[in-house]
Amino acid sequence: MTARLGMHTLTRDRGLLFGGDYNPEQWPEHVWAEDVELMKAAGVNLVTVGVFSWARIEPEPGARDFGWLDRVLDLMGAAGIAVDLATPTASPPPWLGHRWPETLPVDESGHRLWYGSRNQFCPSSRVYRERALSIVTDLADRYAGHPALALWHVGNEYGQICHCDESAAAFRTWLEERYGDLDGLNEAWGTTFWSQRYGDWAEIVTPRRAPYLINPTQNLDWQRFCSDALLAHYRAERDILRERTPDTPITTNFMGLFKPVDSWAWAGEEDIVSNDWYPEPGDPLAPARSALVHDLMRGLGRGRPWLLMEQATTGVNWRPHNLPKPPGQFRLESLQALARGADGLCYFQWRASRFGAERFHAAMVPHAGADTRLHAEVRAHGQELRRLASVAGEPVPARVAMVFDWASWWALEERGRPSDRLNATDQLLAYYVPLWERGVSVDLVPPDADLTGYALVVVPNLFLVSDRDAAALTDYARGGGVLVVGPFSGVVDPRAHIRTGRFPAPLREVLGASGEEWLPAAEEVRCRWAGGAEFTAHTWTELVAAEGAEPVAEFAGGDLAGRPAVLRHRAGDGPGSGIAWYVATMPEPEALGELTARALADAGVRGAVPDGAPPPPGVEAVRRGEVLFLLNHGAEAASVPIPGPAVDLLTGAATDGPVTLPPRAVVALRPHG
Ligand code: GAL
Ligand code: ZN
Repeated sequence: MTARLGMHTLTRDRGLLFGGDYNPEQWPEHVWAEDVELMKAAGVNLVTVGVFSWARIEPEPGARDFGWLDRVLDLMGAAGIAVDLATPTASPPPWLGHRWPETLPVDESGHRLWYGSRNQFCPSSRVYRERALSIVTDLADRYAGHPALALWHVGNEYGQICHCDESAAAFRTWLEERYGDLDGLNEAWGTTFWSQRYGDWAEIVTPRRAPYLINPTQNLDWQRFCSDALLAHYRAERDILRERTPDTPITTNFMGLFKPVDSWAWAGEEDIVSNDWYPEPGDPLAPARSALVHDLMRGLGRGRPWLLMEQATTGVNWRPHNLPKPPGQFRLESLQALARGADGLCYFQWRASRFGAERFHAAMVPHAGADTRLHAEVRAHGQELRRLASVAGEPVPARVAMVFDWASWWALEERGRPSDRLNATDQLLAYYVPLWERGVSVDLVPPDADLTGYALVVVPNLFLVSDRDAAALTDYARGGGVLVVGPFSGVVDPRAHIRTGRFPAPLREVLGASGEEWLPAAEEVRCRWAGGAEFTAHTWTELVAAEGAEPVAEFAGGDLAGRPAVLRHRAGDGPGSGIAWYVATMPEPEALGELTARALADAGVRGAVPDGAPPPPGVEAVRRGEVLFLLNHGAEAASVPIPGPAVDLLTGAATDGPVTLPPRAVVALRPHG
């Protein structure tokens, strides 16, 4: 991440950003004029243009039609609306697949996926790459220096996978770089198992559909490769843009916790982290899930402001049953992102499409037009953001870090494991929720992060861990930090080979505990805190023994009765030592809340609400800079104590007592007096 360019490049002169995807090619030009007037009235200052314009710009191979795009950019420039210009390479025109079928992706069964939708490209295709880079070059040459150009949007939602022969060849090259020779590969993949030994590079293919379970290390390397192959393509486009417009920041839009793309590896390659985020209106955990993903975006940018590139004003069209958002809901979600570090709040899309596969997707201007309840809300929201301008650029301070790793996620969620009910993102959310409920801010970090300065580090699951990262976690706790480690962690090395001996082998010493059997549980499991209170856990148990740690909870029934379920260890000796917790099961939410409260007490960390008391259920409390945001996601009005006299930036009202928040209400309190 280059520090020279970032969200500040955009917000410096414009304040917070507000806008969305704009697809004027779907409309006659007289509608564009109305769009501009409506955008101005709504305070729109950023539009993403051109995401799906390849066929419009290049109607036949080698042709160029930029005239319409010139007029769009000129129009935006004249209106003072910044353009986030996309490279159109996410959706090649039909002619590419028709003339060069090898550019079309092939699935794991060997079936080619056709055009007629979008995203139909092979990340490793030479022809796709050449054609894509050619249009990107011309686009950059044409619009370098255009006053409306403010940001580059490379591709769209990278995540394509292809199993064709060209991909297989690229995979082999990647493997040669990783392992040097076939002996190295055979050793890493453990190919003595099931007679899988490779004697010639040409024998190696992508993990195509096979009769039974596939080699887990082959699968793991394949996922590493797929992320890298897309990243290489992203980089190639980026480099063209960077060379021609060194002062224009570059982004590509993530999709939250999206498995195919190792976002830690990607984020360092862009100037601005941006995300597309579509909370499910019917999901009771959506507010916490969103908070987690927003914190991830901030983490990917190493704490810097990020851009919410896409969200929906109401129902999307790609779920089986698309619940709408009640009045006030998209505003609440938007302000939640702002409170957690977003400096720009954009939507998919500006004007609802009349035709095409997304006819029924929400927009900022619905089919019914601008004189609607929904658009009135859009306009009001755009205008109110001006009152929050002082928040732009402010950090979200956090003393708690949560470790998450893509390779570990890939390795964990492999078939042929003890239980497919222990998943990386579910575990992450389970440990995140109690922190979120207590108004405790969290930084998401990769396993090799510098943990200095964090009072508490939570590792919900780190199935795959390198020796170095395990040592860093150990040093962190021995050096005074508080560490919480969830079950089935430290199980394999980076080749996905089991670390033998009592588990979690590389963390055994710091945890002061070790285990010998993973025992997926059929039903709920009763547990008991050392004080006597009972709680339930579920799905997963481990046969673990204390080796210096104090069992703070034990299993209270079944074959494990009396054995430790949760352990707490004074890590290291001497006054500067920290504390390490190990959780050998999956406690139900309330019990995980109790455990979290104890770990927070160990770490001396308190939430954003005075006295460290958790805010009322459903209320999110988060501090950005010195502004305390309170957001009521619950169905009931809630009263929340505040630290002292403050002014609500949204209304200008002064307050010094508890604040009452109706459902979906938000306050942004700046201390005052
Ligand atoms: C995103 C995509 C947009 C649009 C949107 C609909 O995945 O980037 O182009 O399809 O979803 O929710
Ligand atoms: Zn391919």
